[in-house]
Amino acid sequence: MDPILIVLRIVHIVGGVFWAGAILFVVHFLEPAVRDTGPEGAKIMRALQKRRYLEVIPAVAALTLLSGFALYWRIFGRIHPGPGASGTEIALGLGGLVSLVAFVIGVTLLRPSALRIGTLGAELAEAPDERKAALQEEIGRLRLRMRRSGRGVAILLSVAILTMAVGRYL
Ligand code: HEM
Repeated sequence: MDPILIVLRIVHIVGGVFWAGAILFVVHFLEPAVRDTGPEGAKIMRALQKRRYLEVIPAVAALTLLSGFALYWRIFGRIHPGPGASGTEIALGLGGLVSLVAFVIGVTLLRPSALRIGTLGAELAEAPDERKAALQEEIGRLRLRMRRSGRGVAILLSVAILTMAVGRYL
């Protein structure tokens, strides 16, 4: 028994389930539901932010990545596939790469857009009439960016889930 491997696997799998599950739920169910509810939906997003969704998910994602690369290193002795790589090594390496890209999109596009929407939404409630149209336009633009980047992250994480699910049998 290798206790370090077991701890890494627990952190990795629990983190991966949490990260991917939370993103897939938001992209496929929560965001469309919030959009359907119109201006009321902004309150749900603010409540979600108050519960630190935008801090917890990146932290869990980072743990999943770190434990994933540590597992990869322990098993294959390198952090990405190289000469003579087996099917398993290539599949897990591909999963690692797409997860890393998903993380970068999440922290550079998705999270900042969501944070800015929260700030502008609060400003909108207090804004004078002449400023409202400009704020609404900016919020609409950010929502579109959030939706597109969210879909990109969801697709990449779905690829990661598939490669992780079958990797060891290739
Ligand atoms: C959301 C992203 C991820 C999810 C949901 C995920 C999920 C999983 C799951 C469920 C397993 C267990 C598979 C099995 O035992 O057959 C696994 C194994 C593994 N994952 Fe990931 N993973 C993710 C990201 C990553 C990343 C970024 C890396 C980095 C290279 C990585 C590397 C590995 C490795 C090396 C294993 C094999 C561990 C072993 O056999 O002990 N994973 N992953």
